[in-house]
Amino acid sequence: MINVAFVCLGNICRSPMAELIFTGMVKERGLASSFRITSFGTSDCEEGNPVYAPAKKTLIMHGVPGNHIAKQISLKDVINNDYILVMDSSNLLDLLRLTGGKFGEKIKKLRSFTSDPHDVADPWYTRDFEKAFADICEGCECFLDYLLKEKACAFEYDKRH
Ligand code: 4NP
Repeated sequence: MINVAFVCLGNICRSPMAELIFTGMVKERGLASSFRITSFGTSDCEEGNPVYAPAKKTLIMHGVPGNHIAKQISLKDVINNDYILVMDSSNLLDLLRLTGGKFGEKIKKLRSFTSDPHDVADPWYTRDFEKAFADICEGCECFLDYLLKEKACAFEYDKRH
């Protein structure tokens, strides 16, 4: 089982989009039982709120189902996940502050797995939900390709059990 948590600031736009996109990708590849996937915000500013309507509309237009309720990440959540994938440098700094600089090896920017590792700009401010969707999709695809290479044994094991 690989535990993946996507993280942004509010947990109503980028990280729930990543959670739902990545969930769809692993399902399509028959790998759903190998993963536990969720998302969090570094802030509690949107705690309890559903996915922001324009983000939800973008997901629906691309055929990505699912819902999410915003929650703030805690130190326990960092400990309990294998990969904490943040959207931008500010999320990374917030998490390193939360952990006191620990667990740095499992806290990575989502797009660090791509050949163009820029931040996923926050569509809350840019209003460009399509760009956020495309940037997140590419990050998720490259992250899954990385896992399929690095964790091939884990997937083989899950298939046998
Ligand atoms: P997210 O976007 O971090 O991608 O969920 C934001 C959502 C809400 C706020 C900021 C960013 N806000 O300031 O309330």
